[in-house]
Amino acid sequence: MCGIMGYIGSGNAQDILLKGLETLSYRGYDSAGIAIQQEGALHVVKTRGQIDDLRKKCAASQLSGTLGIGHTRWATHGEANDLNAHPHTDGRGRIAIVHNGIIENHLQLRNMLTERGYTFVSDTDTECAAHLLHFLYDGDLLRSLLLTARYLTGSYAIAAVCADDPSALYCIRSGSPLVLGTCSGEAFLSSDIPALLPYTRDVTVPEDGETAVLRRTGIQIYNAKGRPRKSTSFHVSWDVQSAEKGDYPHYMLKEIHQQPQVLASPPVTSHKTLNSPQQALLLGCGTAYHACLLGAYYIERLSGIPAHPEIASEYASRIAFPYKNCACIAVSQSGETADTLSAAHTAVNRGANLIALTNTLGSSLSRMASAALVTPAGPELAVASTKAYTSQALALLHLARSWGAQLGKEEDPLFEEHLQHLPAWANEALKTEKLLKAYIDPRADKPLFFFIGRGADAVTAKEAALKFKEITYIPSEAYPAGELKHGAIALIHPGMPVIAVCTQPQWVHKTLINLSECRARGAECVCFCLPHMEKEAREAADFVFTLPDMPPLLAPIISIIPLQLLAYYAACKRGLNVDKPRNLAKSVTVE
Ligand code: AGP
Repeated sequence: MCGIMGYIGSGNAQDILLKGLETLSYRGYDSAGIAIQQEGALHVVKTRGQIDDLRKKCAASQLSGTLGIGHTRWATHGEANDLNAHPHTDGRGRIAIVHNGIIENHLQLRNMLTERGYTFVSDTDTECAAHLLHFLYDGDLLRSLLLTARYLTGSYAIAAVCADDPSALYCIRSGSPLVLGTCSGEAFLSSDIPALLPYTRDVTVPEDGETAVLRRTGIQIYNAKGRPRKSTSFHVSWDVQSAEKGDYPHYMLKEIHQQPQVLASPPVTSHKTLNSPQQALLLGCGTAYHACLLGAYYIERLSGIPAHPEIASEYASRIAFPYKNCACIAVSQSGETADTLSAAHTAVNRGANLIALTNTLGSSLSRMASAALVTPAGPELAVASTKAYTSQALALLHLARSWGAQLGKEEDPLFEEHLQHLPAWANEALKTEKLLKAYIDPRADKPLFFFIGRGADAVTAKEAALKFKEITYIPSEAYPAGELKHGAIALIHPGMPVIAVCTQPQWVHKTLINLSECRARGAECVCFCLPHMEKEAREAADFVFTLPDMPPLLAPIISIIPLQLLAYYAACKRGLNVDKPRNLAKSVTVE
């Protein structure tokens, strides 16, 4: 969703902001803009469309200022057009702001400000914050920002510049991501770390309700009461290359191929021991929710602790869940997903002990948790999550295993050895790439795909169908194989691809019977299975893809890889924007 970027230094702010916005574009956007402070005035350039459109508009204005703010907007209030694009200014053009988040009480504020003579030019919620800031401005932008925040409900990260003040860039955050960084004579702010990486790997994160003033001499953070506080930074271990595509045509393909490397390391934990609870609640959205499903399977399997996966946005209605000695594991690649943050707050209020599993050190979720696990996936920039999923699944397996050990559960003596082998199995799975492309190319125009499986394989089927929906726009259904004949089998028609995942020996026979039922109705059946299941699979399926010879317990971490590739090549064949699919945003920061 929206991305914000701010710069103060001696360099050309326009160039630095455009470069930063380009990096943030993975978040999803439909318009972009910048405001540059130059010679006592603010110069705003904004446009509907892509960063390149903005670049063209900027070229005409030739701005040379060294202080400015920039924004990529993912439309929420008002269509994507030039007027609704950020930055927004107060009526006199003396203060400009960019905003990520939602101002929930914008209509009341709009009415209040209109009555006081302010004229609104856009449909956005953000514009009321620009006018309010002006209304409350007494010559001290920091104080006015703090005052403005008292009237705002919702979530926001706001950056502001003032025509009268060439020496500072101001920001405030509450519930939306914001990271700050400095390097010799320059200071930066951004919605996410990758945009800071060309300049610094030491990053500071203001807490909710805090403001910060960025100057050429450094950054000062102020707590919610406006008192200065000492800031602490953390070091980001990835470098700028890890946030670039390298030789790959898309981030998604790069990230799929990074999985062997990602699966070589366990998650980093902020707390050494996570004591085994009496029960576990797992919260997440989309792919992260699918990781929760796998996590719950691992927790019950390896520790015997009852585990309940919940879609974060649905969780508030689960009122009768028992919370005594309950660990709530909130799973989120970004650590900024509004639905997950809100559900995690609810779980904590109900008495659960929060463990955050994120891919982003310093994210909102990891900072609100009593223990934080950080997956070693590195930056994931394609909207469709791939390596984050497999690393979340592995992290949850590690957690389940450690809880099992605390409870004295016996473990397969070969387990450690098998874990060491995961990267090699991931590499082996990637080697089917050409075969998968050859299979999917002639089928990329099929109107409907079905994915089926039982137990942990049903989770893989769900995740595969989500990848298909997201990047190929082909309607794709995932069903527990046994559930098909209770309704969805009515959709099966001649030539329709039905893809079964079979890695769990106790279910393979039954799943293959269900696949045969689809074949009998004309479906074109495909099976992804372990080598020893191949013979049986060939009797039920028209195409069989053999997965590496791995233990069934670890198979769900690997078997999704060829299915990610299948979705990727289908999307390429359809000529779609794989990394930035329509309507989607990487980090969903509104509920
Ligand atoms: C994954 O491919 C999706 N883009 C989406 O479902 C994502 O997993 C979900 O929005 C949760 O994001 P998070 O992991 O950053 O919380």
